[in-house]
Amino acid sequence: MDFLDLAPARHAAGSVRLPGSKSISNRFLLLAALAEGETRIRDLLLSDDTERMLDALKTLGIRWESLGQENDFLVCGAGGPFPARQAELFLGNAGTAFRPLTAALALSNGRYRLSGVPRMHERPIGDLVDALRQVGADIRYLGNEGFPPLEVLPATIQAGGRVAVRGEASSQFLTALLMALPLSGRGATVEVAGELISKPYIDITLKLMSRFGVSVERDGWRAFHIPAGARYRSPGTVHVEGDASSASYFLAAGAIGGGPVRVEGVGRDSIQGDVRFAEALQAMGAQIAMGANWIEAAAPADGRLKAIDLDCNHIPDAAMTLAVMALFAEGTTRLTHIASWRVKETDRIAAMATELRKLGALVEEGADFIAVSMQRGEPPAAVSRRLTFKPNAAIDTYDDHRMAMCFSLACLGGVPVRIHDPKCVNKTFPDYFDRFLSLLAPVIAIDGPSASGKGTVAALVAEKLGFHYLDSGALYRLVALAALRAGLTFDDGEALARIAETLPATFEGSRILLDGEDVSAAIRSEECSTGSSKVAAFPAVRAALLGRQRAYQQAPGLVAEGRDMASVVFPDAQLKVFLTATAEARAERRHKQLIDKGMSANIDTLLQDLRERDARDSARAVAPLQKCADAELLDTTDLTVDEAVTWVLERVRQRLPQAAARSRNKEAPRA
Ligand code: DC
Repeated sequence: MDFLDLAPARHAAGSVRLPGSKSISNRFLLLAALAEGETRIRDLLLSDDTERMLDALKTLGIRWESLGQENDFLVCGAGGPFPARQAELFLGNAGTAFRPLTAALALSNGRYRLSGVPRMHERPIGDLVDALRQVGADIRYLGNEGFPPLEVLPATIQAGGRVAVRGEASSQFLTALLMALPLSGRGATVEVAGELISKPYIDITLKLMSRFGVSVERDGWRAFHIPAGARYRSPGTVHVEGDASSASYFLAAGAIGGGPVRVEGVGRDSIQGDVRFAEALQAMGAQIAMGANWIEAAAPADGRLKAIDLDCNHIPDAAMTLAVMALFAEGTTRLTHIASWRVKETDRIAAMATELRKLGALVEEGADFIAVSMQRGEPPAAVSRRLTFKPNAAIDTYDDHRMAMCFSLACLGGVPVRIHDPKCVNKTFPDYFDRFLSLLAPVIAIDGPSASGKGTVAALVAEKLGFHYLDSGALYRLVALAALRAGLTFDDGEALARIAETLPATFEGSRILLDGEDVSAAIRSEECSTGSSKVAAFPAVRAALLGRQRAYQQAPGLVAEGRDMASVVFPDAQLKVFLTATAEARAERRHKQLIDKGMSANIDTLLQDLRERDARDSARAVAPLQKCADAELLDTTDLTVDEAVTWVLERVRQRLPQAAARSRNKEAPRA
């Protein structure tokens, strides 16, 4: 069984750039496909659900291409129904693809079959089919009545009148109808029968339709008028904002684990209802700050989260995160109006209850609510946290991305947690766990040219903060040494990569061991220096060392020093520093080092060497020496080592106040 073990943690801080919103991505893709003209979609989410939509559009004759940078895509719209009049579509478990495509295909006068994974065939779609049949669509159930798979047959659409749709199972049925009806060109009025749940998602639909030139007039939440002659037209370029539901896990981590945790990509200007998750956090006592495009969460001033009683109809997805947060709050958290959870990726109420109990929670569940508390008697959470979490819970995730993401938070209870099938997060957030772990153990990436002082400064900063320290250059040096000892030359990348993969190296304080032998001095030899720079130019060697380097990211944090720490190995590092100094100053430092070691040295030769090495390092194709755009630059020419360390620690205080405070507390008894 595939699983991920999360180590116990208590602190979370840092910032995360969010992937694009799933709801917005799939809506934009469909609208762009139906619109007249080309649409450039920026920051599209790349995940299973959007891949299902992209594949389906291709099968349906829509041309699109990846523009190869920052998740930008170009979609050539059909300017009406799909070009392919016959197709077979497999849509996995992507509700945001299945429902809107069903509606759009029902109005495309062709012959189509739509199917998904077994769970998709257990998720109701009868309300949508009933509504589409009212306008003349011919849709047949291929399995059970009311559920996918479906067959859509050619039919003459008689729009122009009224269509009734039920809104209490899923708002996606109304979304699907609204997005598809303009294809008939005749106008229509959609009336919602019964209650309409998850209204904020309808808001997203209407806003995006209007970006594509179709304004829907809304009469409360009961009736929606699509004007006759409405046609989708590409607005040119559209931008997908960050995913607000995905933001909830990181904000929750900030509220539980001290924080501050900042998410970038959603904020006050967001059109997604799930940003209101921040209000729920605030009601639990968390401290929230918000800008146009970011939200930040930190623990309550007294460190104690309070239980809440909340109608979650407006935030159905983010509400799952609240169910896990309830473990950390004093009292019983009651989440109501969540019946739709039962027909999502899994029966989320049942799944949530089962898994929360594994952690020691008391859970009560009903048809449309869940109530969670960690312990009877409600002792102060701050005291009980350590005691009440059951360690080593193995969490089942039911092929539900949100179950996996929600339960990652449990490790902040200071207990080890195992997450089964962690890859199910691919549905909406393929690198979720990397981002989450980066908050638990912040990374400070330090780089700079040879003799800029980066090694000395990085080691001292790590020591002051009590962080782990990664000297990535030493790994390349070790590969070079191991290769020399194995009698290899430095031109066989594959053989070198095999050495890198199985390198029997360990770091013990300042001692570096290869196969148990102390090679701290040996790897600094001239031969190893030259060798390491050759070894480091092979992409296969770099790839082989990647996982090993990332494994250093462990609580309470890591200072990682070397060439591509900020750009490739830890692109989400909370602080990136690039040290520099004039070549003259660096040559002088190196000269002094050598003289101090009793070696002879010529300052002019050293200067010449440094200049040549700088030129080579900056020009090389693989991992060139370059300052990352988001790295802070420090010129150490006129600074002592202590001054440089102080400067970096000051930046740590600004970016990672929790880490800085912990290091101060740690030092206090010694002072
Ligand atoms: O920092 P150092 O001199 O110990 O590094 C040894 C070699 O490895 C040097 O040629 C740069 C290279 N290197 C790299 O390519 N990527 C890293 N992350 C670290 C070092």
